[in-house]
This record gives sequence, C-alpha cells and structure tokens, in this order.
Amino acid sequence: MKILKCIEDLIVYRNDLGSQEIGFVPTMGALHNGHASLIEKSRKQDNHTIVSIFVNPTQFGANEDLDKYPRTFEKDSILCEKLGVAAIFAPDPRDMYRKKDEITLNPPKSMANVYEGALRAGHFNGVLQVVLKLFSLIRPKRAYFGQKDAQQLLIIKRMVEDLFLDVEIVPCATKRDFDSLALSSRNIYLNQMERKNALQIPMALDLIKKMVDEGIRDSNRLILEAKKCIRDLELDYLDIVDYDLQRVSEVILGKSIVLIAARSGKTRLLDNLWL
Ligand code: PAJ
Repeated sequence: MKILKCIEDLIVYRNDLGSQEIGFVPTMGALHNGHASLIEKSRKQDNHTIVSIFVNPTQFGANEDLDKYPRTFEKDSILCEKLGVAAIFAPDPRDMYRKKDEITLNPPKSMANVYEGALRAGHFNGVLQVVLKLFSLIRPKRAYFGQKDAQQLLIIKRMVEDLFLDVEIVPCATKRDFDSLALSSRNIYLNQMERKNALQIPMALDLIKKMVDEGIRDSNRLILEAKKCIRDLELDYLDIVDYDLQRVSEVILGKSIVLIAARSGKTRLLDNLWL
C-alpha cells in the first residue's frame, strides 16, 4: 500500500494508473467500522481503492473541534492495509489550500442552510470545496459516501449533477455499534452515562420505523412520538424530509429520510433513517 503525503506524489501515482477504474473513499481519519464498510464496498467493485485521510479545515467552524479532532494515522493505515487499499492520500492542509483567497463553492441555500448547515454556517461549502479538489486529483470512477451523513451525501450528489462531474456516487448504509449507536469518530468523546443516553437516538428512529411499518405516514405524529424517546439529550432537530431536504408532511416510502441531531453532554451526534 502506498502512502502519499503530497499532491505531486499523488499525481505521479494517479498518472501511472492511467485509465484503470478507481474507487475513492474520502475520510477525515480516525477510521472505524463505518469507514471500513465503505472501503470494503469499493474493494468489491473497483480494482484500486484510494482512501483520503484529511481533516479538512474549511468545513470546521471557528468554535468547532478542528484541533481536537482525533488523529490516529498509524492505526488507520494498518486498517487500510488490511482491507487491501491501494493507496492512502494524506496531504498537509497547506498543500491542499495554497492560496488565502480561493475559489469556493456555494451549495443551494435550500439544501445547505438547513439542519447541519443552519447550525454550522459554511460547513457544506467547505465539504464541497475539498471533495471537488479530491475528485479532480484522484479522478475516481466511483466515490463512496455514508448515508449516516445524509445531508452531506445529498449535497454532494447535487454537486455532481449540477457540475456534470464524471463520478458515480455510491451511497453506503450506516454501520452501528453493538448497542445500535451509529459509529462515529466522535463517539470516543462520550462518557458512560452520555453513551447510555445517546441510545435514545436509535430508539427514536426504531420507533418511527415501527410506526411506518404499521402504516402511519403522518410526519407530525411520527415526530411527536419519537421526541418522547429523547429525554436526556439536547435535541437540535428531528424532522422528516425529502431528497431535496425539504420537510414533508407525509412519509413517502423510498423518498423520505428522518434526520436527527442531538447533543449528549458536549458531543453532537447525528443519525437518520432512510424510509
Ligand atoms: P468522515 O466523518 O471521516 O466520514 C467519511 C465517510 O464515512 C463519510 O462518507 C461518512 O458518511 C462515512 N461514515 C461515517 N460514519 C459512518 C457509519 N457509521 N456508517 C457508514 N458510513 C459512515 O464525512 C467526512 O469525513 C468529511 O466530511 C469528508 C466527506 C471526508 C470531507 O472532508
């Protein structure tokens, strides 16, 4: 497995691969089984899987955890090697962002100023900026994104559509821990009590799933019942939306997503359910 720490090395490596099909898994490192499932999916479909490990500064707000974000490169590279990754691209921020005043991308306000974007101004601009740079450098045939970050996935799909990018976005199901909590690099911040309380999130989603399976489609009713599960967390939002991230009054199967974000102690947790 190659470890590429600068853009020049990546360009040489990429050019050697020529027209071979590449699968790409962008990450910020601190890899867990959720990331591993994306890599495994790529390994089944693509001859070469490239993983990027880059804690992208432009998607963090001033008061967010950029400096504290877990960095576990040694462990990550051992996992990637084990999974059969062809190369890790782990550039320095100064290499990725060479100018102070760069061209940026503005996602549609209706998709990016709501939910995560409403609480994290500019977050999705930063995500698109880095993902587009990575796509340009790596030129993948397919790129793998977790459904866990539903809003990110939908906005990236929109970028690919709007900018006619030649890459297939592959959505990947959310991986959960033994207790149903969605795996996240930030789960390590949770103490025992916070972790226990965090389980109210999958409980709320399970309840909605059960009610929908029973034939209930009314969003208000589903949300009201699910909110009763969230007793010991600070709820940021719990809503049901379509693939344009617009609120829906009725669930339509195959077209609706439940979005939830809540804080357990100081840790913000995201989860969702694709109905
Ligand atoms: P990161 O949080 O490291 O996540 C990398 C990818 O792993 C994302 O596509 C995310 O949705 C997916 N992922 C995270 N937890 C998962 C889980 N429990 N099950 C399945 N997939 C999961 O998302 C980012 O990094 C960044 O915003 C990035 C796209 C790399 C741009 O900087």
